[in-house]
Amino acid sequence: MTHEFDGKKYAKASAHQNEWGTRLIAELHLRGNERILDLGCGDGALTSRLALLVPEGEVLGIDASRGMIGAASPKAGSNLRFRRLDINELDFEDEFDVVFSNATLHWVKDHRRLLRNVRRALRPGGRLRFNFAGEGNCSRLCSAINEAMSRDEYRQLFEDFEWPWYMPGPDDYRLLAESSRFGMVRVWGENADRFFPDQAAMIGWIDQPGLVPFLANLSAEAKRSFRNFVVSRMIEETKRENGTCFETFRRINVSASVGR
Ligand SMILES: C[S@@+](CC[C@H](N)C(=O)[O-])C[C@H]1O[C@@H](n2cnc3c(N)ncnc32)[C@H](O)[C@@H]1O
Repeated sequence: MTHEFDGKKYAKASAHQNEWGTRLIAELHLRGNERILDLGCGDGALTSRLALLVPEGEVLGIDASRGMIGAASPKAGSNLRFRRLDINELDFEDEFDVVFSNATLHWVKDHRRLLRNVRRALRPGGRLRFNFAGEGNCSRLCSAINEAMSRDEYRQLFEDFEWPWYMPGPDDYRLLAESSRFGMVRVWGENADRFFPDQAAMIGWIDQPGLVPFLANLSAEAKRSFRNFVVSRMIEETKRENGTCFETFRRINVSASVGR
């Protein structure tokens, strides 16, 4: 299942995703001629930075959301393309030197299939670098959402709802990744807990992308009241005296390469 996002709002509410992605890009130590695939490119901010670093290479950003691809497309250029595609349907073979993904793969449930498809997309000597949400990520938001979903007025609306995120612990993910056909695999957890500078910054992130999948099938009135319940619970639970708001951010980092 994929979801629809507002790329313009996301661009304004994604400071922390951008910060993690910037670090990930620096760690790639690109030569400048690589072909790169960015899984879940969102508004394309990181994808276009990758393209600047490979003037003799090429970058393709894929995302399932029309709103995100709409926000990314104006950034396309001579070595940068965007395409609307579900990560679950990757259909590339021997095409990329690097498969990159930041803050996305917790939206994908079947990582065995994902790793198989990424392995197929990579050329000999190619590598992947992922950072996505792991166990314990956004514990305050998850518990506020769970509380809202179990309230009398919403319980029935969520009877057939499928929880949108897969957030494994590093040990479980290591086992999975090591059973894939990569030559060298490294998996490690990371504590990236953070303080939002103020409640407005936190609310921006709750609205886009946080609550999107939970509101998708609600009426306009239920959308508003469910969202307001979660926002006020989050302010109660996370706001400090100095106005900042605390949330847990736990990440899974993965790097792996394909033999030549
Ligand atoms: C939090 S955003 C991250 C965007 C960008 N990588 C960044 O770091 O700013 C997650 C993105 O993953 C995309 N996404 C989630 N599930 C997807 C899927 N199955 N196929 C393609 N894109 C997906 C969403 O549309 C969204 O743009």
